[in-house]
Amino acid sequence: MPSARVRTLTRSVPRQIRGHHRMVGRDAERPAVELLIEPMRRSDLPEVMAIEVVSFSVPWTEEMFGNELGPGTLAGALVARIPGAGAPPPVVGYICVWVVSDELHINNLAVHPRWRKRGIAGGLLRAALQHGRREGARAAFLEVRASNVAAQALYRKHRFDAVGVRHRYYTHPIEDAVIMCRMGL
Ligand SMILES: CC(C)(COP(=O)(O)OP(=O)(O)OC[C@H]1O[C@@H](n2cnc3c(N)ncnc32)[C@H](O)[C@@H]1OP(=O)(O)O)[C@@H](O)C(=O)NCCC(=O)NCCS
Repeated sequence: MPSARVRTLTRSVPRQIRGHHRMVGRDAERPAVELLIEPMRRSDLPEVMAIEVVSFSVPWTEEMFGNELGPGTLAGALVARIPGAGAPPPVVGYICVWVVSDELHINNLAVHPRWRKRGIAGGLLRAALQHGRREGARAAFLEVRASNVAAQALYRKHRFDAVGVRHRYYTHPIEDAVIMCRMGL
């Protein structure tokens, strides 16, 4: 099975996600990729937006991503890059989280369609969970469209369980949200 080997870079940004780890993703058909996971910067936003608009029917705006980047906030945002795929290495995915008290909230996660099924979302999720652990979170929460079987499978693989439903939570199209939770990070 192919793997996503992940190096997580550290930067001296307060409350940003820091750390260093390697991990293995699995995929039967696609080649292995090495990932670099690092804090999202303003200069990443054009690449992030290009992924966002092809991933969601109601995409976040650039301003919304910008609000996640301010120092001293509860927010953390990471991008994944493929070092071998260009110079500078392109952004192929991202995750945005908040740590509120002892809860990690996963607010956004997407991978460029060309780079899906190579363990990249798994790498981002693990890095975000590690960030949550460091910041004192003991549980993680998220909402996902009821029809989004790919994302739900991803989260189940990472020990999230469905714990509730928010009726008609999403628009375009109107749809329920499944609330998923992982107890213990
Ligand atoms: C959901 C998404 C983030 C997954 O990204 P990815 O990098 O392809 O995911 P990974 O390669 O890390 O997949 C890990 C696991 O997720 C599940 N998964 C991922 N894509 C899947 C698919 N198309 N169908 C079924 N399961 C899928 C599998 O369990 C997979 O494990 P496996 O490879 O051992 O089978 C990506 O499809 C995406 O960006 N979708 C659009 C945006 C979105 O839905 N975001 C989540 C909002 S809650």
